[in-house]
Amino acid sequence: MRVLSVLGSTGSIGTQTLEVVRQNPEDFKIAGLSCGSDIETLYSQIKEFRPEAVSVNDEDKALILEHRLRAEGNKTPVISGKDSSTSIATLSSADTVLGAIVGVAGLVPVYNAILKGKDIALANKETLVAGGDFIMPLVEKTGVELLPVDSEHCAIWQCLWGEKKENLDRILITASGGPFRGQSRADLEGVTCEKALNHPTWKMGGKITIDSATMMNKGLEVIEAHHLFGISVDKIDIVVHPQSVIHSMIRLRDGSILGQMGKPSMILPIMVALYYPDRGPRLLEEFDPFDPKCSCLTFEKCDTDVFGLVPVAYDAGRKGGILPAVMNAANEVAVNSFLNGKTGFTDIERIVKSVYSDFEGRNIAASDLDTVLQADGEARIKAGELIR
Ligand SMILES: NC(=O)c1ccc[n+]([C@@H]2O[C@H](COP(=O)([O-])OP(=O)(O)OC[C@H]3O[C@@H](n4cnc5c(N)ncnc54)[C@H](OP(=O)(O)O)[C@@H]3O)[C@@H](O)[C@H]2O)c1
Repeated sequence: MRVLSVLGSTGSIGTQTLEVVRQNPEDFKIAGLSCGSDIETLYSQIKEFRPEAVSVNDEDKALILEHRLRAEGNKTPVISGKDSSTSIATLSSADTVLGAIVGVAGLVPVYNAILKGKDIALANKETLVAGGDFIMPLVEKTGVELLPVDSEHCAIWQCLWGEKKENLDRILITASGGPFRGQSRADLEGVTCEKALNHPTWKMGGKITIDSATMMNKGLEVIEAHHLFGISVDKIDIVVHPQSVIHSMIRLRDGSILGQMGKPSMILPIMVALYYPDRGPRLLEEFDPFDPKCSCLTFEKCDTDVFGLVPVAYDAGRKGGILPAVMNAANEVAVNSFLNGKTGFTDIERIVKSVYSDFEGRNIAASDLDTVLQADGEARIKAGELIR
């Protein structure tokens, strides 16, 4: 039985993780749950999963939740504020932390959970993009398991099971292409939030859905794969595969290509991570190769002239240091601003490129948490100024 703390329990990955727990109560127990501000969802999760403690980043919302629970005689501790997710990530009873907070806000709790020797099932890619340079050595040093939940990385990881590291020659990360596949740069000017949120194959949280529309999501995933599998970004290709049936592939030294296939659902990658090294029961409908959606698989190159954030991510992954954290921070601010209707879709790329170029000449090693948080903070200020 795994005892889990779920960070970001109210989000898309968090609720799907709890669905896996709901269907397999004999295999999992919930130690703690954390969220940003969605206390309605958290309240129902408290009633159902009876965690030892919960956290809410928004202090006012935490107070409202606490009053509601106490009025019913429920004594579940409600921790609030900036470091509250860390308290949930480091609960002594939890052996595994499922990291599904969106953005770099997930970095500090995951870092502290590793220090406490917890295994990490990681969906939160921004943690590795910004902090991979010190997170990966820490994982190695502490001996914890870092279990990839991001579907592409879970696919690559499974293809690598039992394979010698030196036999990995290339990684082929698949991408649906998002809602604007095949469009021109001119088409992207004036794109509305509604259109950008309309992903063709995956149902996900707002930020990652916009990242999929700009293709920044693939850029982030290339850097994530570089850290997880110890391979340079120039040995990682993006393969646009609109059917989202093959979740990623690897090429081995002898030219063999291995891939992992299935329906586009995050339930399976969550289960693969949480049941590792075993396999869990089948929760999804069986894969049917004769389904018309699966019987014709196509592959295209990513159009980097249209999706200009992809080359920025490769550049950041190549140069390393604080640049990936800077790029990620600028992107988070720009995406948030687009989601709030303050700036346009193509402004996301403009803002990220501008902040990135500002830091390019003064790159330093991202050797510890403080350095990365400092760079992240500075890049956010710069992006905020540009938006204003
Ligand atoms: N969704 C997918 O299919 C998918 C696939 C692969 C990887 N991922 C990655 O998984 C992560 C989560 O994605 P998602 O789609 O699940 O996002 P989401 O639906 O937006 O959920 C984000 C979660 O993070 C919480 N949160 C936000 N800011 C927080 C803070 N400062 N402190 C504590 N909690 C905070 C949110 O709480 P509230 O609900 O209270 O705001 C929510 O529970 C992202 O890094 C994403 O790239 C997602």
